Amino acid sequence: MRAIVQDRYGPPGVMQLRELAEPVPGEGDVLIEMHATVATPSDVAFRTGSPFIARLFSGLLKPKTPILGDNLAGVVVAVGANVTRFKPGDRVYGSTGTLAGANAETTCVPETAALAIMPPGMSFGEAAGLADGGLTALPFLRDTGELKAGQHVLINGASGSVGTAAVQLAKLLGAEVTGVCSGRNVELVRSLGADRVIDYGVEDFTRASDAYDVIFDAVGKSSFAHCEGALKPEGIYMVGTVPTPSLLLGMLRKRGKLARFAATGLRPPADKIRDLALLSAYFHAGKLRTVIDRRYPLEQIAVAHAYVETGHKVGSVVIDIEARADA
Ligand SMILES: NC(=O)c1ccc[n+]([C@@H]2O[C@H](COP(=O)([O-])OP(=O)(O)OC[C@H]3O[C@@H](n4cnc5c(N)ncnc54)[C@H](OP(=O)(O)O)[C@@H]3O)[C@@H](O)[C@H]2O)c1
Repeated sequence: MRAIVQDRYGPPGVMQLRELAEPVPGEGDVLIEMHATVATPSDVAFRTGSPFIARLFSGLLKPKTPILGDNLAGVVVAVGANVTRFKPGDRVYGSTGTLAGANAETTCVPETAALAIMPPGMSFGEAAGLADGGLTALPFLRDTGELKAGQHVLINGASGSVGTAAVQLAKLLGAEVTGVCSGRNVELVRSLGADRVIDYGVEDFTRASDAYDVIFDAVGKSSFAHCEGALKPEGIYMVGTVPTPSLLLGMLRKRGKLARFAATGLRPPADKIRDLALLSAYFHAGKLRTVIDRRYPLEQIAVAHAYVETGHKVGSVVIDIEARADA
């Protein structure tokens, strides 16, 4: 099989296309023929080893696993003797988490990994994008932010992969949603269901007073200190990126306005499986969609990473795996 391998941390060029032996599934494993993955800011962090905290999971001096890539969509081609959840031919999607390995034509994961059957009508690209944005936004809003129906949430970075999922999921949770994005993405964010959209080039959302129950800065462009005034008295501020000193101080508080962070990618697979079922149901009901920006074939993943690094992708950047790509 062909795979994208990297032996050291560095710029996109450290990712090399190589021919490797196909993995052999053990008794409890599922072998998946990959059709799509996505290139994400988290993948960039694991490719560069920056911020340094990423290396606690990916390897201190060099990547622990040579094949990176978290989110996957593909078809089960073989299962181990003890596998009961899946069978050959199943279309599956999900997250390999710290096992990585999605940047390849074939990957092998335990059947207990965060995998689910793709709902009818979902393309592989949509599935890989939803595994990224949906599996991040849902636990942030519902669990970390404790967002309730009728509350007012602001989502900063509403046009990214996490943000586009967050806008839709916050509406599904019954919240009033304000999305923040640049002027070129205002119509997109509105089309996802946001009640109000703020163009960050025109208006500074942190200047609002007592406006929000929850602020979710999906792209980490604000700080708790600057957003405090915009929170209601018991409001919660969350950041999707790396915690800053101001956030950590806010996290020490016991009452009043609080700051929170969650490493949603490190959640137990069983929790992710439960959430994939919910995301699939929303998708199947036409209530949730994946926004796809650009697509690249596997061999151009370095170009995809360079684009993701600009910080201006809209929704997901899909990596189509060879001739198996779909619409
Ligand atoms: N905590 C966790 O466990 C976890 C899990 C998954 C992902 N993450 C992190 O979540 C973050 C978001 O990921 P993502 O894929 O959603 O990011 P992304 O898609 O790369 O975000 C890009 C979007 O951010 C917008 N943006 C850029 N500057 C902005 C600003 N100043 N204000 C508002 N929006 C701005 C851009 O819009 P314009 O081009 O219009 O500016 C663009 O659409 C990443 O840092 C990722 O590592 C965390």
